[in-house]
Amino acid sequence: MLRRVKRPHSRLSALLRAATRARRQAYAPYSGFQVGAAVLAGGRIFSACNVENSAYPLSVCAERNAVGSAVAAGHRRIDAVAIVAGEGRPAAPCGGCRQVFAEFCDPDAPVVYASTAGRSVITTAGALLPDSFGPADLLAGAPRPAGIVRDPSRSAARIRGTRKRRK
Ligand code: THU
Repeated sequence: MLRRVKRPHSRLSALLRAATRARRQAYAPYSGFQVGAAVLAGGRIFSACNVENSAYPLSVCAERNAVGSAVAAGHRRIDAVAIVAGEGRPAAPCGGCRQVFAEFCDPDAPVVYASTAGRSVITTAGALLPDSFGPADLLAGAPRPAGIVRDPSRSAARIRGTRKRRK
């Protein structure tokens, strides 16, 4: 489940196709802006669309819905992300979604965002949100209950469930 996919870049075309398909299901009656996203986790692709609500702030981005379904299937590491939004210019993911990528992606995880016209930008989760707040910050600042280790990077891995088991 926590195995890292060796060549996530080789799956970007399949991720873009999945995001394009998911975008068709977007529920966006208020903004009219349709978004599809797909994430690669444990070798599988999880895709979703944006889902708006008449109580506007409750609308959820496609990226966050896709991450949520990967997590619900038991995955804590996302190896690559694709997003399809915007007709001419590819629409970049919002700040909230960048923070969610930072939670589950390594900084070098590829993120591609593309327009429906096929223009695309390829970047990484780390480049989209450099010097991000993360689980290590919570542990570094919190009082230390018994049993919590001091090394913040190891603690962050423990929160995400990506820490390697000792044999
Ligand atoms: N949206 C996304 O799905 N992802 C983003 O990264 C930015 C915005 C959605 C939310 C809303 O349904 C619509 O696009 C307009 O903001």
